[in-house]
Amino acid sequence: MLFLALKTKKMNIVLFGPPGAGKGTQAKLLANYFRIPHVSTGDMFREAAAEGTRLGIKARDEYWGKGNLVPDDITIGLVKERLGAKDCEKGFILDGFPRTIGQAEALEKISKIDYAIEIQSSEEIIIKRLTSRLQCKKCGKIYGLDVPPKKDKLCDKCKLPLYHRDDDKEEVVRERLRVYKKQTRPLIKFYKKNGLLRSINGEQKIEKILDDIKKIVQEKL
Ligand code: AP5
Repeated sequence: MLFLALKTKKMNIVLFGPPGAGKGTQAKLLANYFRIPHVSTGDMFREAAAEGTRLGIKARDEYWGKGNLVPDDITIGLVKERLGAKDCEKGFILDGFPRTIGQAEALEKISKIDYAIEIQSSEEIIIKRLTSRLQCKKCGKIYGLDVPPKKDKLCDKCKLPLYHRDDDKEEVVRERLRVYKKQTRPLIKFYKKNGLLRSINGEQKIEKILDDIKKIVQEKL
């Protein structure tokens, strides 16, 4: 029954929370479990910069590289296009969007959201996690203190060297946290008001957080 419900029910999930709360980690696991795409605006911006597009370089040098948000008009346009793609017809997991009230209002016009899941974590834990996070450029797998690579700084799967994100330097992380409080935290009130907010303790084990999120999603199936 559950399998059938998962196959037929459309699920549009928003994951939000401070930098380093574990959104990307959970989004990848959920995407694999529910077989729906993981849409990360942060990944989109990093990919555009790596490809050397004009927009990608501008977004990195003027905004995300410094810990600031990329302007709403650019971000909303990108998400609108991505959510319009065929693979999002069965639903999607949005990781890192919306991040402002303007983006949340725009999203309401783009698509109906079923769940807005806030992953909570303290600043102390976030700084510890982000300053030690490593990621694979090829497959995107995220490593950290609790999920270290098997072999020294090499991706377990791709066997390529892992990298440390430019915006994970402590001073940039502190700026991202400041921006989060000012621009993204108001989303808690926004999603509480429309009844979509669910909050999860992001300081638990990765598997426990995943279970908590699955329970929330399966409640509505
Ligand atoms: P983005 O890439 O979205 O960054 P972020 O939101 O700051 O989040 P992070 O990717 O840093 O952390 P996360 O919550 O995904 O944690 P993770 O799972 O990796 O955005 C980057 C930038 O792009 C933004 O700053 C902004 O400038 C721009 N941008 C993006 N979207 C935008 C938008 N909508 N509007 C405007 N600008 C936008 O985990 C972190 C670490 O912790 C890892 O090492 C992981 O292994 C570890 N970990 C995770 N969970 C656990 C756990 N339960 N226990 C122990 N360790 C854990």
